[in-house]
Amino acid sequence: MQHTDSSDSISKSSYIYVCSSSELEENDLTECETETKTIVVGRSEGKVYAVDGICSHEYSELIDGELEDSCLICPLHFACFDIRDGSVLEGPAEDPLQTYDVIEKDGSIWVNDGKEE
Ligand code: FES
Repeated sequence: MQHTDSSDSISKSSYIYVCSSSELEENDLTECETETKTIVVGRSEGKVYAVDGICSHEYSELIDGELEDSCLICPLHFACFDIRDGSVLEGPAEDPLQTYDVIEKDGSIWVNDGKEE
């Protein structure tokens, strides 16, 4: 998906507001809820990424995990996911996490939950 530069485009699309940029420091995680899913948003090496908020292994909320060097660590069995692309770096999880488009603009962070409007 192509990112846009216009705030109007953000508001007309399915991007939802997450938080202000200053609220998400390096290796911080935050969470946003949509109608159907929970998304975890984290900052790694200055960039913001968004993935599923529930582990692909069993039910565990990844907001309670840790983000270290782009590795999102599940709090339950300590699987490690690359927050940049959702891939599994270390088990026991086998399935990747879905990723979501993120825009950081004018001091705000927005995520696209993939829902068509
Ligand atoms: S629930 Fe996440 S690794 Fe098991």
